[in-house]
Amino acid sequence: MGKMVIGNLKMNILSVSEREQYISNLKKELGKKEFSKTEIVVCPPFVHLESFGKNIGQKVKLGAQNMFPQREGSFTGEISPAMLKNIGCEYVILGHSERRKYFDETDKEINLKVVEALKIGLKPVVCVGETKAEKEANQILRVLTKQIKEVLAGISRTKAEQITIAYEPVWAVGTDIVPTSNEIMEAKLLIKKILISIFDKKYAGMTKILYGGSVNSKTVLEVCVDPAMDGVLIGRESLIPYEFVKIAEIINN
Ligand code: PGA
Repeated sequence: MGKMVIGNLKMNILSVSEREQYISNLKKELGKKEFSKTEIVVCPPFVHLESFGKNIGQKVKLGAQNMFPQREGSFTGEISPAMLKNIGCEYVILGHSERRKYFDETDKEINLKVVEALKIGLKPVVCVGETKAEKEANQILRVLTKQIKEVLAGISRTKAEQITIAYEPVWAVGTDIVPTSNEIMEAKLLIKKILISIFDKKYAGMTKILYGGSVNSKTVLEVCVDPAMDGVLIGRESLIPYEFVKIAEIINN
């Protein structure tokens, strides 16, 4: 299975000039480098998607950070999966912990989004992970089981290959604290078991499992390479093209 490096630019890049600078720097860093085993995906804010699509080049795929689970209609202020697909997105991040925290997104709502994304041919990158309190109460298995079963409810196992699970412990997102490689490996095994119970063994093996939360070029060996994850979801460091590409190179090699 190939690897994946996804950059979640979050609510950053405030102007056209900042965007042009970012795209130009990222292209420069990618230069002549080949990433034969690794897919690189960038998820900018909605307003920048079209320009990224036109200018970022062939080495980078496009993803969105969220979507509304309806094709079209009277939903003021929302963005439809069809819009994302038609503007060139291949991926969409769903259920990020910041959306769960600040917008009270529930697993049921995330499930509706996963269903609609798959319907139109967008590949969902679904974020799951426990809070610090849940970890301290030894609730990781319970939390991951609930989240994954609910967000994937009703999804056919033939879609398993199009789904990516990002294990993002909430306490590691934006904090510079990372789990040990053993903790990540344990979480990966739990996630695999849960996926097998949903999709069965053959299909579950097709779902990629990424790690996310304070990934940088210094932590990437410990959080991704050592625990044999299928890649990473990167927040802050993806805003620095040099670091973003460095992480991709480490994972690819
Ligand atoms: P971070 O964010 O890399 O800045 O911790 C990760 C994420 O939100 O996916």
